[in-house]
Amino acid sequence: MSEGNWMDVRETAPSAERNKQPILEVLQRVLPASGLVLEIGSGTGQHVAHFAKALPKLTFQPSEMEATRHASIAAWIAHEQLVNVRPPIALDVMRLPWPVRAADAIVCINVIHISPWGATVALMEGAAKILPPGGVLATYGPYQRDGKHTSPSNEEFHKNFLQARDPRWGVRNMEEVEKVAKRNGLDLAEVLAMPANNFTLVFRRGSPHVAD
Ligand SMILES: C[S@@+](CC[C@H](N)C(=O)[O-])C[C@H]1O[C@@H](n2cnc3c(N)ncnc32)[C@H](O)[C@@H]1O
Repeated sequence: MSEGNWMDVRETAPSAERNKQPILEVLQRVLPASGLVLEIGSGTGQHVAHFAKALPKLTFQPSEMEATRHASIAAWIAHEQLVNVRPPIALDVMRLPWPVRAADAIVCINVIHISPWGATVALMEGAAKILPPGGVLATYGPYQRDGKHTSPSNEEFHKNFLQARDPRWGVRNMEEVEKVAKRNGLDLAEVLAMPANNFTLVFRRGSPHVAD
């Protein structure tokens, strides 16, 4: 091993390489100009490194409930020499209160279908607690619409990969996700079709009701 790369434990997910730029192009438009962005389920760390490099005025907080993945996230931050990314923290959305008490925006990629439904409920509850009024939660992944898969490949993925691995996992119905978000004061502001039959959903926390 050559000197200098002894700490390079970066993991690379091919899907993250493919989708990081299309997702960034949405985030460049919907994230605030400055402030703190919490990423939930940072995985390898490829996304947060890509986003932080392109959006230097924002500060990013990566998180990953599996602590064994923190080394890869930290290695991506180090490799890209990013000064606007905090060290990764452990965050399981099911465990309230979250270790981050306030964030200006939240990004959550490929988590909703690879976790039990209770995680989506907890995501919406937790996000509503830490976002300011108008704050954005952006989720990315495959969704059913009106109870139907949007492609044969998503149906196959749902049945033969997700449900086979864990019957509590699955491609969710977008309308159900919207409903649980709404219950927590998060309005579905945009539904954006993405490559490979995925969607980015942009939720915005509504302003608190002001009595006349
Ligand atoms: C397929 S990985 C996606 C990783 C990365 N965002 C990506 O797209 O490459 C699924 C992610 O869901 C996260 N996840 C599952 N259940 C969770 C929970 N209860 N709280 C927080 N994250 C959760 C996992 O830790 C993992 O990071």
